[in-house]
Amino acid sequence: MNKKLIVTVLLGVFGVAAFAVAQEKGPHDAAIKGRQAMFQTYNFNMGILGDMAKGKIDYNAEIAAQSAANLNAAASFGQAAMWPEGSDSETPGNARTRALPAIWNNFPDVAEKGNALKTASEKLAAEAGNGLDALKGAIGDVGATCKGCHDDYRAKRR
Ligand code: HEC
Repeated sequence: MNKKLIVTVLLGVFGVAAFAVAQEKGPHDAAIKGRQAMFQTYNFNMGILGDMAKGKIDYNAEIAAQSAANLNAAASFGQAAMWPEGSDSETPGNARTRALPAIWNNFPDVAEKGNALKTASEKLAAEAGNGLDALKGAIGDVGATCKGCHDDYRAKRR
C-alpha cells in the first residue's frame, strides 16, 4: 500500500468511528448530564463537610461556610429542564442515567424530597461556619434527605 492509500483508508476508518459515536447520542443527554453535574456539586461540597465532621480533615470555618453555601445554592437550582419525559434509566438510547422511571409517576413526592434537602441545606449553610459542633449538628439532616430520595428514585449501580 502506498502512503496516500494508507492515509485514505485510516481517514475512512476514523470517519466511520466518529460517526458511530455521534449516533450514540440520545435526545436527552444534555439534560441528564446537566442534572448529574448538579448532583456532583452536591457531592463535592458534602464530601468536604462530611470529612470535617468525621475528623478526616481539620475543621476550617471559612471552607465549611463556603461549602455549605455552595451546596445550598445548588440545592436551590431550578430543575424544570433537567427531567424531560423519557430521560429515565429504562428508556433505551439515553446517556448513562440512574434516574428511575418512578420519578415521572411521583413528581409531587420527588419535589417534596427536593424541598426537604433545600430546608436542611439552608440550615446547614447558616450553621457550618459556627464551629465543628454546629456543623455536626446540622449535617445529618442533609445526608438523610440525600438518602431519602436515592432509596426511592435512584437505581443501584450496575
Ligand atoms: C429529590 C431527589 C434527590 C435528592 C434530594 C438527592 N439526590 Fe442524588 N440523585 C438523584 C437521582 C434521581 C440521581 C440519578 C440522576 C441520573 O443519573 O440521571 C441522583 C444522582 C446522584 C449522584 C450521581 C451523579 C452522577 O454523576 O451520575 C450523586 C453523586 C448524588 N446523587 C449525590 C447526592 C447528594 C450528596 C445529595 C444530598 C446532598 C443528593 N444526591 C440528593 C436524586 C436525588
